[in-house]
Amino acid sequence: MSEVAELKLEGQTVELPVVVGTENEKGIDISNLRAKTGYITLDNGYMNTGACTSAITFIDGEKGILRYRGIPIEVLAERSSFLETAYLLIDGKLPTQPELDNFTNRVRRHTMIHEDIKRFYDGFPRDAHPMAILASVVSSLSTFYQHENNRTEAELFSLNTVRLLAKLPTIAACAYKKSIGQPLMYPQNHMSYCENFLHMMFSTPAEHYEVDPVMIETLNLLLILHADHEQNCSTSTVRMVSSSKASLFAAITAGICALWGPRHGGANEEVIDMLTQMRNEGGSVSKYVEMAKDKNTKFKLMGFGHRVYKNFDPRAKILKAACDKLLAKMKISDPLLDLAKELEEAALKDPYFIERKLYPNVDFYSGIIYKAMGIPTVAFTVMFALGRLPGWIAHAKEYLNEPGNKINRPRQIYIGPALADYVSVDKRK
Ligand code: SDX
Repeated sequence: MSEVAELKLEGQTVELPVVVGTENEKGIDISNLRAKTGYITLDNGYMNTGACTSAITFIDGEKGILRYRGIPIEVLAERSSFLETAYLLIDGKLPTQPELDNFTNRVRRHTMIHEDIKRFYDGFPRDAHPMAILASVVSSLSTFYQHENNRTEAELFSLNTVRLLAKLPTIAACAYKKSIGQPLMYPQNHMSYCENFLHMMFSTPAEHYEVDPVMIETLNLLLILHADHEQNCSTSTVRMVSSSKASLFAAITAGICALWGPRHGGANEEVIDMLTQMRNEGGSVSKYVEMAKDKNTKFKLMGFGHRVYKNFDPRAKILKAACDKLLAKMKISDPLLDLAKELEEAALKDPYFIERKLYPNVDFYSGIIYKAMGIPTVAFTVMFALGRLPGWIAHAKEYLNEPGNKINRPRQIYIGPALADYVSVDKRK
């Protein structure tokens, strides 16, 4: 007999079904609450509200667990490739070798962008933020792929999935090249996904450039770790936009814009700015820990805290280890890494952070690795978007394939003025 929740309201008892997930998470299904009681629920920031059921990613915030389609992030980080992980998230299973080869070759053949798109880059200011460029150019893709009614919805979704996975690295690299006045580099289809991106970012027509295998391995890890994270702000945005049946390009553009915020994906850029300022001021971590505790400063320790993880972010643990490994392999000693470790140690000992269960999140160490790879700080969130793309696509697909899916349209509790008159302008105060 499935469990029910009883709600006592105005003398009546309403029974609401309880939904139990794979890992025994429980939710009260309020789909019929308003019909039964006239009431809705209210939950600012959706702290307690599940927007959907999903089979893509599982997070246990207390135990620091993150799994894509049931596979622990630690195993994927160790053994998978980004495109294989993308296939897992989007198609729901690990690909056979022929499936992976076919997927890889499909992506490879869509890495170039339309030559007319390149002219957009001449129009952006040289110091335009690359997230604005990414959102603009991704949105423009829908103008280059318009007349495709000869394909089924599923065929078009699959093709646009490949187009986006293939072109985002090219679009991102073009933004970087334009910002430093270097020629835009063409993708090389014989290269692997990560090698190709690093080639487009750092090679020039003037000389031969070999991509460092350590950088390829590190980028592969970073992209896997960022690939999905269930109903985070940007992914929920992608599901919201997909629910109006807007194009996948429109939904991904919306996800890019949501990710840009400093509370979300924009934090990795802010972490480096914070550590750099800390170092330039003499490196007193205690000053910043105290500032973060002082409500009058509005300062937050960037890269710390998480809506779900209340123990540790497993991705931060993996990235912290990767930092040490990469910097050692590249023979780089970055004072910001030492500062980050000192800051983490100081914060994790402080009652303010302990009581609020604030731990380093995925953004705390990722910036140090991107910096070591030569990625400019302003492009860190673009790197986050490259990683998160398959997760966004997987959730859009899951939403669109859900039988009886409805447009997402939350309710509200109105607290504005009661019935009011229209006062003519000469009588207004
Ligand atoms: C990502 O959702 C996801 O899954 C996101 C993500 C993903 O993969 O998609 O994991 C990626 O976005 C990671 C988060 C990156 N953002 C930052 O590092 C920015 C700094 N962090 C904070 O802005 C904050 O921790 C959030 C936004 C991440 C979480 O905010 P919540 O869940 O709304 O928590 P809250 O703001 O209500 O904080 C609870 C308390 C408050 O203090 P009190 O009012 O109880 O006294 O903790 C405090 C907050 O002031 N607090 C912090 C803090 N984060 C929370 N205080 C100092 N420094 C911080 N970083």
